[in-house]
Amino acid sequence: MFSLKFLSVTENVLKTIHYTIFFNGEGYITLQNKLTNYSSLFILTDPQTSKLCLQHLLKYLPDLKKARIFCIPFGEKEKNIQNCLDICRQLNKENADRKSLLINLGGGVITDLGGFLASIFKRGIYFLNIPTTLLAMVDASTGGKTGINLDNMKNEIGGFNYPDLLIIDKHYLKTLPNRELKSGMAELFKYGLIADNFFWEEIKNRSKKMHWYDWNEFIYQSNFIKNNIVTEDPYERKGLRQILNFGHTIGHGIESYFLTTYSPLLHGEAIALGMVCESWISWKMNGLSQKQHEEISKTLLSIYPLREINEQILNQILKYIRQDKKKLQEDIHFSLLREIGICTYNHKVSNDIIKQSFQSLKRNNL
Ligand SMILES: NC(=O)c1ccc[n+]([C@@H]2O[C@H](COP(=O)([O-])OP(=O)(O)OC[C@H]3O[C@@H](n4cnc5c(N)ncnc54)[C@H](O)[C@@H]3O)[C@@H](O)[C@H]2O)c1
Ligand SMILES: [Zn+2]
Repeated sequence: MFSLKFLSVTENVLKTIHYTIFFNGEGYITLQNKLTNYSSLFILTDPQTSKLCLQHLLKYLPDLKKARIFCIPFGEKEKNIQNCLDICRQLNKENADRKSLLINLGGGVITDLGGFLASIFKRGIYFLNIPTTLLAMVDASTGGKTGINLDNMKNEIGGFNYPDLLIIDKHYLKTLPNRELKSGMAELFKYGLIADNFFWEEIKNRSKKMHWYDWNEFIYQSNFIKNNIVTEDPYERKGLRQILNFGHTIGHGIESYFLTTYSPLLHGEAIALGMVCESWISWKMNGLSQKQHEEISKTLLSIYPLREINEQILNQILKYIRQDKKKLQEDIHFSLLREIGICTYNHKVSNDIIKQSFQSLKRNNL
C-alpha cells in the first residue's frame, strides 16, 4: 500500500539515488560543465524534435553543435530493434567508445529506445534524457526503465539503465499538440489515483483549461511521487513498483492491438481506457467504492476517445494482455485501487473478470 500527500512546494532540483533531475536552466549549466568529460557527443532525435526542439537546446549549449545528430522516424512503431541496430552501426562508424555521451532529445519513444541502446552499445555508454513531451517529462524519461517493442508487443525487450542526468525544460511543451498533452495527462491522473487523492482532485479540476505554462507543479510532483516509489523498489523486485503499472496491464493490451490498425491510440489514450477497466476490477475485487469507480470513469471518458471494441477485437486484446510481461504462469497480476490515492498490488484476476471489465468502456454506462 502506498499513499502520499500532495506537496504544494515546487523545487528546481530533485536528487534521486541514481541521478539528478533539473527542472530549470540550471541543468544546461551542469551539462555544459560536464561535456568535456565525454570522448564524443551524439544526440538522438525524431523529425519533430529535430525541427522544434534542437535549436533551443543548441542555444543553451552551443558546444553541442559539434555533436553528431541521429534522427529516427517518429511514432511508437519506431521503438524497434531495427532502429536500435541502425544507430549502433552509426555509432560504430563514428568510432564512439565507452566514454561517449548520447543525449536523448524527445518523447518516450526516444528516451526508451535511446536509453536501451546506450546500455547495449559496447556494454554501455553514457546517456542523458531531455524529454520534450509531457508524458516523457512525468514518466517515460525517469525511473530507469528502457526498452523497445517486439513486433507489436510493448516493451518486450529492455532493461534498467539510469541516465547521467535529466533536464526537464517546460519550454518544449510550447509546440506539443493538444492530443499529445492529453496523452501525457493520463499518467498524471495515474499518479493521483495510485498515490495521492488531492493530486487527483487538482488534475481533475484543472485538466480542461490548461495551457503549456500551467504544468510546473504537476511535473515536479509526479517526479516526486515516482521517485518515492522507485527508490523503494528500483528493479520491481519487492513489488511496490508494480503500482506504477496501474491501468497498464489492460492499457498495453489495448495499445498493442490498435498499433496493428490504421489508427493507433497514443500511449496515454490507451492507458486511460486501461485505467477505466482496472478501476472497474478494483470496484469488483478490491473494495473501491462504486461512487469512486464512476467518478474515475466519468472523468477519463470525458477526455479520452473511445474505440469500438467488439468480441473479436476483445479476444485479440486479451491475447496481448496474456503475453504481457506481467503474466506469471497462468495468472495475470494486477495493481488495483482500494480507494482513490491508495493502490495495492499482486492481485490475481481471472480472464472472465478482465473480459467483463470492458463493459465499463461505454459512455452510456455512466
Ligand atoms: N520507460 C518508462 O518508464 C515509460 C513510462 C511511460 C511511457 N513510456 C513509453 O513512452 C512512449 C510514449 O511517449 P510519448 O507520448 O512521449 O510519445 P512519442 O515519443 O512518440 O512522442 C509523441 C509525439 O510528439 C512529438 N513531439 C515530441 N516532442 C515534441 C515537441 N516538443 N513539440 C512537438 N512535437 C513533439 C514526437 O515527434 C511524436 O510524434 C511509449 O512508448 C511508452 O511505452 C515509457
Ligand atoms: Zn505509461
